Amino acid sequence: MTGPTREFWEQRFQEGNTPWDRGAPSPQLGAWLDAGALPPCRILVPGCGSGHEVVALAAAGFAVTALDYAQVAIARTRQLLAAANLTAELVEADALAWQPDRPFDAIYEQTCLCALHPDHWQAYAERLAAWLPPGGRLYALFMQALRTGAAEGLVEGPPYHCDVNAMRALLPASRWQWPPPPYARVPHPRGWGELAVVLAHCGEPIG
Ligand SMILES: C[S@@+](CC[C@H](N)C(=O)[O-])C[C@H]1O[C@@H](n2cnc3c(N)ncnc32)[C@H](O)[C@@H]1O
Repeated sequence: MTGPTREFWEQRFQEGNTPWDRGAPSPQLGAWLDAGALPPCRILVPGCGSGHEVVALAAAGFAVTALDYAQVAIARTRQLLAAANLTAELVEADALAWQPDRPFDAIYEQTCLCALHPDHWQAYAERLAAWLPPGGRLYALFMQALRTGAAEGLVEGPPYHCDVNAMRALLPASRWQWPPPPYARVPHPRGWGELAVVLAHCGEPIG
């Protein structure tokens, strides 16, 4: 498999080497919730990590499914939920292969895509489309982590830079309804930022 493996992520958690972890839910999730842009529904959080957003969504009345293939991530999410006296469905599985028994109303995609080598992005985009019915929404935080090596064509990560034009090609307008730019840029503790975009799933491509 190209790029980071499950063992890679397990080790990062075990070493406490988790610079992506804000130690709290992303401010963008709070902004979407406060604005009523993300109403309570059945929602999937792929690559949930320590689970801060899972807890915030469960506290806000969502039926949450948290997915991660790192055992430590699922254990931490379980601990956070228990401490808050909340529940969610926890799934320890590979996002590139897992299929639920029924689709979700929404997906909260915060830095799972950028954790995958771009060789796997097409497969992940297929999963995103399979997890949502037409009209389902993808709340995406596209990591902006452009490195100097990009000028020489190097693919460096994780996190892998989620250039907005690459995202438009990956999640094409034939399948996904994009809002017009500009998009809010959410600061990240590491100094990078994420672009916040809400996409509506249109269903299968026309033609
Ligand atoms: C950069 S961390 C982000 C965690 C969390 N979303 C956050 O923002 O704090 C990426 C997470 O995705 C998980 N992950 C990466 N590839 C995965 C895959 N193929 N299937 C399931 N989880 C995966 C890792 O185990 C890790 O928890």
